[in-house]
Amino acid sequence: MNFPLFPEAASTIAGQVDALTLAWLAISAFFSVLIAGLILVFFVHFRRRKAGEVGSTADVRTLPLELTWSVIPLIIALTMFAWGVQVFFTAARAPADAVEYWVTGKQWMWKIQHPEGVREINTLHVPVGQPVRLTMTSEDTIHSFYIPAFRVKKDVLPGRYTSVWFTPTKTGTFHLFCAEYCGAEHSVMGGKVVVLEPEEYERWLATGDAGPTMLASGEELFSRLACDTCHLQGDAEAGGRIPRAPSLDGIFGAEVMLASGRSVVADETYIRESILNPQAKVVAGWQPVMPTFKGQVTEEQLNTLVAYIKTLGTADAPSTGGEEVADMATAEEPSGNE
Ligand code: CUA
Repeated sequence: MNFPLFPEAASTIAGQVDALTLAWLAISAFFSVLIAGLILVFFVHFRRRKAGEVGSTADVRTLPLELTWSVIPLIIALTMFAWGVQVFFTAARAPADAVEYWVTGKQWMWKIQHPEGVREINTLHVPVGQPVRLTMTSEDTIHSFYIPAFRVKKDVLPGRYTSVWFTPTKTGTFHLFCAEYCGAEHSVMGGKVVVLEPEEYERWLATGDAGPTMLASGEELFSRLACDTCHLQGDAEAGGRIPRAPSLDGIFGAEVMLASGRSVVADETYIRESILNPQAKVVAGWQPVMPTFKGQVTEEQLNTLVAYIKTLGTADAPSTGGEEVADMATAEEPSGNE
């Protein structure tokens, strides 16, 4: 009978998450049993033995006992907090060598794009042992990307980017779910993650429909939408033309001063917002002349634009290179469906 009580552990972080979960479970079980047991013991021991018996009114407080039951739980709680924070930070910060894949959720499917340009729906092929970072957004409502075997789960939200990362440790096929109720066919919004040996993965990629890479698509769109006529890049900038918009070289991860006097870190969500709603955060020293591109680009085209803009001014052209991960800069709120 196949009746697993615990999902398979198939990523580097799975062991850490499991250890923390099981430790909490053990501590909770210990205190539940202790308290329930003491209730029973006290029931019997302090029962009324004669009719009309009245409880003692003597002061029976003992300082050592009270200190013990205050200090021990305090130590346990703080230890678990520190441990939890450590696992949380590991889960929240992708390693610098993580390869970036793009995920778009929509009712009711997961659309995935590899850096090499290959696209898949409801299936994600990845090589074993390679850190993978997924940058995710939604076309419609809130979804949640969930791979139990990797201990990875994150809300996928319309209008902004969230991300998860994992390093698969075993080859095989694992479940992929949507873990946030998102409409009538929520329950079928899922698929599988196929983890392959690196050589097999290369072979699989070669059989895929070899469209342009994320970066090539983004670059093509950048010039097709004429972004480069205002945001002068490279040669154009050097050619003495007067720019009408700030250069985007090295923009990603940088701190940007806004006309409002505030500053923001240019993460994926900021770049995306600036394309769809350019007036929202105008850069200090520039006129708010940029038109909106809302309705002119699909969610996936936006992803390619953001992927391309992220690499501007960096040495590593393919986004698979060691670009800085914006890590905690993307103000990711805890998902509400844990
Ligand atoms: Cu998408 Cu549930």
